[in-house]
Amino acid sequence: MRSRSFVSLQKILMLTAIVGLPWMVFVNVSFGQERKIDSMFLDLDKKYRIPEGWSILPFELEDPYKRVKNGPPLANIINKAKVEWISRWIANPKKVVPNAKMPNLGLDFEEIKAVIVFLSSLKEKELPAIAWDAFLLKKEDELSDDEYDKMDKVYNNGKGVWGRARCTICHPIKGVGGNVGVGPDLGEITTKINRNWLYDWLGNTKNHFPDTMMAQFRFTDSDLRGIVEFVMRDTQFIPEEKDEEEGSTAEAKPAEPEVQILTEKEFNNIRKDSALVEKGKDIVERARCFVCHDIKGISELMPVAEKKREGLAGFEKLLYEIRCLSCHRIQNKGGAYAPNLTIAGSKIHMNWEKDFLQAPDIIRPLSQQMPKFNLTEDDAKAAIEYIEKNLHTKQPLPNPFEGGATSADVVAAGEKLFYEKGCNTCHAEGAKGGGVVGPNLQTVGDRLQPAYILYHLKNPQQANPQVVEPNFGLSEDELKPLVGFLADHALKKEGK
Ligand code: HEC
Ligand code: HEC
Ligand code: HEC
Ligand code: HEC
Repeated sequence: MRSRSFVSLQKILMLTAIVGLPWMVFVNVSFGQERKIDSMFLDLDKKYRIPEGWSILPFELEDPYKRVKNGPPLANIINKAKVEWISRWIANPKKVVPNAKMPNLGLDFEEIKAVIVFLSSLKEKELPAIAWDAFLLKKEDELSDDEYDKMDKVYNNGKGVWGRARCTICHPIKGVGGNVGVGPDLGEITTKINRNWLYDWLGNTKNHFPDTMMAQFRFTDSDLRGIVEFVMRDTQFIPEEKDEEEGSTAEAKPAEPEVQILTEKEFNNIRKDSALVEKGKDIVERARCFVCHDIKGISELMPVAEKKREGLAGFEKLLYEIRCLSCHRIQNKGGAYAPNLTIAGSKIHMNWEKDFLQAPDIIRPLSQQMPKFNLTEDDAKAAIEYIEKNLHTKQPLPNPFEGGATSADVVAAGEKLFYEKGCNTCHAEGAKGGGVVGPNLQTVGDRLQPAYILYHLKNPQQANPQVVEPNFGLSEDELKPLVGFLADHALKKEGK
């Protein structure tokens, strides 16, 4: 133990010497003590060692998690959110949205009033006018039976779109869901949002927030109308009735002090008050809202280099629009919710990938699924061309079928091993059924390249340390038949 850690320490020291790290990092290390490696060294080791296995990419990837301003631009907030909502929000964000990231800045009501008047003075553009059938703007109890049926059709169409888009993998609803960990809770969104804004946002998020982490779905007009109707009407987006007020629990809990809320009516009386605009601007400067928000006339205190996004093409454009890296990771950029794509080109058959991108299928039933973004054939082509060319291991993975294709005997031997080893406790591979902890392997030969199956089975944690599959320590004699058996699970028989 002692000598081993000493050896790796030496290695790391050599490495740090080679890459020429600034002297600063040494300050944190105490050489005289027990040879316990400072975790910072290990991080550095990882950071500087791994890129050697990566390809040089043709353009620099943009990491959506590293955006300069984490809050949305505020110029047109008055088009988006109701005044009452903004007022409650600034007073205490976490009380309005359970997973809010914005801190409570401790402003009082008079300050909040001024801030809202200032923010509304920043408005740069009107929302596009969208023609809605008049009945869609009515409350449910005002609709005739006939109108209700028509509305219900639009709503149900939207419910389907919502489901396929898997909005809830990013957005929790009243605290449930949101595994990606990036979207605000939508459980009370109807108290905030303007219907036209929602349509426009879902149609083109980048118009409102160029740095957003939200995927830009390719929705049709009818998809958009459906999903707007669904979000504006479904009870999951409306605050729950607080029955505690009458019930006995209300007595047990001391009533929270009510925050004063700026009403639409009061706002309309003061919105043109230029003294308030000035006061609000001053507060916004002092509260440093510009650290997290792009605010015209104030952001200049902390300027941000403009990113050039016009003229993006191919996969770079797709990455920007769909924000693949909000969920996936490539090299050291992006999220950890979805499979790491750094070596996807050495892993996946590109024909399968092209179909999957256009119509994602369920691979891992229990954990995560990819939303349907409605990518076109051209989008998918751009993605696979890039992935095949750039996202592979430095050296080709050893091909298990070097000495020729697999034979029926090998496949049969592999099948026997699959059940002997108990792979079926986690995986189904055919009619016999099996566990659902791991992906269904029925068509794994269409999806994964044989060389990658071998790489995976040699050490399941190699590509992803989080995988729960045990390392079976399989011998060469066992690996080849298992790979042969699994690669044979293909409808398309791509060979190779
Ligand atoms: C530390 C960062 C931070 C600071 C400082 C900050 N905000 Fe925010 N703000 C956020 C984030 C992040 C969001 C997005 C919602 C969330 O919290 O998840 C947000 C959201 C908002 C929204 C809603 C925007 C929308 O499009 O829905 C308003 C309005 C707002 N902030 C106003 C302010 C004002 C006014 C100040 C200064 C008094 C301020 N913020 C200071 C981080 C910040
Ligand atoms: C990749 C994750 C992701 C997916 C998928 C996603 N969103 Fe979002 N969404 C976000 C993020 C993040 C924000 C906040 C803006 C930001 O910080 O970039 C957001 C903002 C929103 C907002 C504005 C909320 C507010 O309070 O400002 C709405 C409404 C919304 N999304 C609806 C949807 C709907 C409907 C879908 C499905 C069609 C969806 N989102 C899918 C990540 C996602
Ligand atoms: C909202 C999150 C999210 C976004 C955005 C997203 N994906 Fe995915 N993707 C997933 C999840 C989750 C899976 C795993 C699906 C499964 O196992 O059923 C996946 C699977 C994949 C796979 C198969 C990987 C494997 O190893 O099995 C590829 C390739 C892929 N996505 C590419 C992309 C590309 C390219 C984009 C952008 C155009 C993208 N994804 C955007 C969530 C996302
Ligand atoms: C304890 C459960 C478990 C057992 C036992 C298990 N696996 Fe897995 N396996 C998984 C999980 C979970 C994944 C998904 C990893 C991921 O999300 O990328 C997986 C993935 C795979 C993959 C696909 C890899 C990928 O990245 O898509 C193959 C092939 C595979 N396993 C084969 C086997 C074989 C062969 C055996 C028996 C020798 C076996 N597994 C035993 C849980 C298991």
